[in-house]
Amino acid sequence: MKIRIVNAKSINLNSGFIRKISDTTLKDENLSYRSVSLIKSSVQKGYFLLALDKSGKILGWIEKYKIWKDWWGLSTLYVFPEYRNFGVGRGLLIPMGIKDLRGKNIFAAATNKQVQLVLEKLGFKQVKLTELPFMVRINLMLVRYLNIKGLIKLFKIRSKGFSYFVKSAQ
Ligand SMILES: CC(C)(COP(=O)(O)OP(=O)(O)OC[C@H]1O[C@@H](n2cnc3c(N)ncnc32)[C@H](O)[C@@H]1OP(=O)(O)O)[C@@H](O)C(=O)NCCC(=O)NCCS
Repeated sequence: MKIRIVNAKSINLNSGFIRKISDTTLKDENLSYRSVSLIKSSVQKGYFLLALDKSGKILGWIEKYKIWKDWWGLSTLYVFPEYRNFGVGRGLLIPMGIKDLRGKNIFAAATNKQVQLVLEKLGFKQVKLTELPFMVRINLMLVRYLNIKGLIKLFKIRSKGFSYFVKSAQ
């Protein structure tokens, strides 16, 4: 399968699809909730990468977000079930997300064991939240979870057991 990774800002992503991304983040048990307005603003800032097939069909996505100073996060990784195990998510979206953030400290919280293994292969180290700079922890809460749906979802995912990873700026 021929797959391209594009920045969502560079294509005309319609509002129906933005709603679909938001609904997916609410339903999928591994993802943190992202509201329609958060996704819209993230897309406008150029923070969403999409995986497309030859015909332009969207197969999946990953989001980057600014936490504090040169600390950034990668999140919201998702590939539609029918396109999994073709190397889209772990094979392409994660490496492209990292490439986009070259020179930054990258934070990722992952529930999925396979994703954790890929992060380690790509130079991430597992950390405890308490090892992160205080301002990074504060901003993570402010940037990511400060809405009621987001917090409820966060507690649901936490029960699955998050692991935290950092790739230090090089
Ligand atoms: C996690 C998720 C994004 C993985 O996406 P994916 O597209 O299936 O991942 P990949 O296809 O890249 O990797 C899966 C397998 O395909 C294999 N693969 C096949 N072709 C490949 C290629 N060209 N390049 C790399 N890997 C390839 C990989 O080796 C991997 O196998 P492994 O189990 O031996 O490591 C997807 O399962 C998903 O959306 N899950 C629900 C949401 C979620 O859990 N998000 C992550 C939160 S932490």
